[in-house]
Amino acid sequence: MANYDVIVIGAGPGGYVCAIRCAQLGLKTACVEGRDTLGGTCLNVGCIPSKALLHASHRLHEAEHTFARMGLIAEKPKVDFNRMLAYKAETVKGNTTGIEFLFKKNKVDWLKGWGRLAGAGRVDVGGTAHSARHIVIATGSVPAALPGIHVDEQTVVTSTGALALKKVPDKLVVIGAGVIGLELGSVYARLGAEVTVIEFLPRITPGLDAEVAKTFQRILKKQGINFILNAAVSGVDTSAGRAKITFTDRKKGTEMATTADIVLVATGRRPFTDGLGFADLGGEMTERGQVAVNAHWVTSLPGIYAIGDVIEGPMLAHKAEDEGMAVAEIIAGKAGHVNYDVIPGVIYTAPEVAHVGATEESLKDSGIPYKAGKFPFMGNARAKLVHQADGFVKLLAHAETDRILGCHVIGPAAGDLIHEICVAMEFGASAEDLALTCHAHPTCSEALREAALACGDGAIHA
Ligand code: NAI
Repeated sequence: MANYDVIVIGAGPGGYVCAIRCAQLGLKTACVEGRDTLGGTCLNVGCIPSKALLHASHRLHEAEHTFARMGLIAEKPKVDFNRMLAYKAETVKGNTTGIEFLFKKNKVDWLKGWGRLAGAGRVDVGGTAHSARHIVIATGSVPAALPGIHVDEQTVVTSTGALALKKVPDKLVVIGAGVIGLELGSVYARLGAEVTVIEFLPRITPGLDAEVAKTFQRILKKQGINFILNAAVSGVDTSAGRAKITFTDRKKGTEMATTADIVLVATGRRPFTDGLGFADLGGEMTERGQVAVNAHWVTSLPGIYAIGDVIEGPMLAHKAEDEGMAVAEIIAGKAGHVNYDVIPGVIYTAPEVAHVGATEESLKDSGIPYKAGKFPFMGNARAKLVHQADGFVKLLAHAETDRILGCHVIGPAAGDLIHEICVAMEFGASAEDLALTCHAHPTCSEALREAALACGDGAIHA
C-alpha cells in the first residue's frame, strides 16, 4: 500500500508548485528536498537573490544618473555591500519560508533529504523508504562545467558564487553573454566594477531577436560593460592570486589574455540527475542528458513523470511551474496542458528585455509571411519622463491573417508589458485587436498598442 498518492522530488518552482497543486486536487502529497530551505535554485541562488541585487544596483544607478536631472539633490550615494547582501538574504528568507508556510497550509509533507528512486513507486530519502502511486522528478539544473576551467566559487565563480562575493571586485570577467552573464555583469558594473564579457559567438544573447540583441549590446556598452565577441576561452589560471583568462580570437586565430579579480563562468546549465538513480533503473535519457518524457511528461518508467529544467525546453522557472501544474492535473484525472508557443522570456537588466513567440529569424526560417510593427519608446511620453526611452517594441503578425506571432520589447518594465501580448496570443488575437484596445495614457503599455498600429495603417507618435 503506497503511503502517498504523489511524491515530488525537488522543491524548486516546478516541484513545489506541482506538490501544492496535487494537494489542492485532493491527492496525498509529499515533496522531497535536500536543501535546508525550499524553493530550489530560483528562490535560493537564482532568480530571487539576483533580482534583489539588480533592484538595489538599479536604484543606485538612478540616484547617480537621473536624480539630479529631476531636481533631486543628494550627496553621492555610497554602497554598503554587506547591507546589500543582508537585504538579498532577507528577501530570499521571506520567499523560502513562504513556501514552507504554503506546504503546511496545503498539507504537503516535506521529506527532508536527497531522494533516490528505488524501484517502481519507491523513493528513498536518507535511508527511509517511502512509496507513492505517482512520482514526479523535478530536480532542476546546475551550472554546466567549462572544460579546463576549475570553479572554486571564490575567484572563479558560477552564478551561485557571484551572488555571494565578499566585496565588489575591481575587475570582473564574465564568460558567456547569456542571461546570467548579462544580469550579474550589470549588477557589478553598476556597483563600480570594470566588467568585460567574453562571448564565444559573434553576438550576445543567442536566440534573442537579432535587432533587439544589437540594441541591447549598444545600451549595455553605454553603461560601461566591455564586450569581446567571437572569442573562445581556453583556460583560467589563478595560481598567481589574480585570475588570468586566456582566450582565442576566433576570427584571427590569435591567443589573447586578460586578468580579473573575479571570473564568472556563465556558459549554461545542465540538467541535475546526480544520485537520483533514474538511469540506473533503466530510465531513458536524451542525448543532452535530460530525462526523456512524452507529451504528457511521462518518462519511460511507469508512474514516473518529469518536469522543469531536468527535461527539454527553456530553463525557466515559469515553464517549470506550468509543467508542474499540468502534471498535477493529469495525475488527478484532469486535462493538463502547456502552450509552449506562449512562454515569455525576460532579462532583468535595465532596460529589461522581454520576448514571447516567434522572432523575425525563426519566421524567415520557416517561410511564414509576416509583418513587423515597430515603435520606439522615444515616442512614448511615460518612458521619456522616467528617462528610459532607449529601446523599442517590435510586434510580429502574420502578413495575411494579422494574427500576432511574437513580440520583442527592450525598454522600461518590458518584463511586465509582455504579458499583455501573452494573453492576446492565448486568445488568438490579431494586431488589429490590440490596436483597437484602449490603453491608458500615459503608460509604457501604449508603446505596445502603437506597435500594433504600426502593423496596420501606422503608429501615431512615431
Ligand atoms: P545561456 O545559455 O543563456 O548563455 C550562455 C552563453 O555562453 C551563450 O551566449 C554561449 O554562446 C556562451 N558560451 C558558451 N561557451 C562559451 C565559451 N567557451 N566561451 C565564451 N562563451 C561561451 O546560459 P546562462 O546565462 O548560463 O543561463 C543558464 C540558463 O538559466 C539559461 O537557460 C537561462 O535562460 C536561465 N536563466 C534565466 C534567467 C531569466 O529568465 N531571467 C536568469 C538566469 C538564468
